[in-house]
Amino acid sequence: MLEKTFAMIKPDAVNAKNSGAIIELIERNGFTILGMEKIMLSKEKAQTFYAVHKERPFFGELVDFVTSGPVIVIALERENAIQAWRDLMGATDPNKAQIGTLRKMFGTNVGSNATHGSDAPETAQQELSLFFPRIK
Ligand code: RTP
Ligand code: MG
Repeated sequence: MLEKTFAMIKPDAVNAKNSGAIIELIERNGFTILGMEKIMLSKEKAQTFYAVHKERPFFGELVDFVTSGPVIVIALERENAIQAWRDLMGATDPNKAQIGTLRKMFGTNVGSNATHGSDAPETAQQELSLFFPRIK
């Protein structure tokens, strides 16, 4: 069944001019781009987006990092899109990510790890509605 997920190219990868390469790999891996925008996140929006992590020790760093430069937010569709996008991204820590994954290719460390992806149908729905309210 076709499924939607939310993806983001984080400031490290945008700044390094890796967004074109990442978008090419998105398309090569069978995803359809339903929506895409390059934006600067406000602190408030970043805090809302990462609200599940607000008690974690790295929350402040996470919000600072994701607001440090432009990001590219993307609505994706594919068979099994949520898991397929997480598989393409690889492990959270680029140093532990498999060869061929985006985080291995374009990430630096657990903070600067190039991309974000929703982790479940409920979070995909929430994250998509936060950035793409017209996509249902
Ligand atoms: P994401 O949400 O960005 O797709 O990454 P994820 O599911 O693989 O990882 P998650 O546990 O949701 O963590 C969100 C982001 O927080 C940063 N992080 N830093 N310093 C640390 O120990 C630490 N742990 C996580 C990462 O940038 C991660 O992507
Ligand atoms: Mg996550």
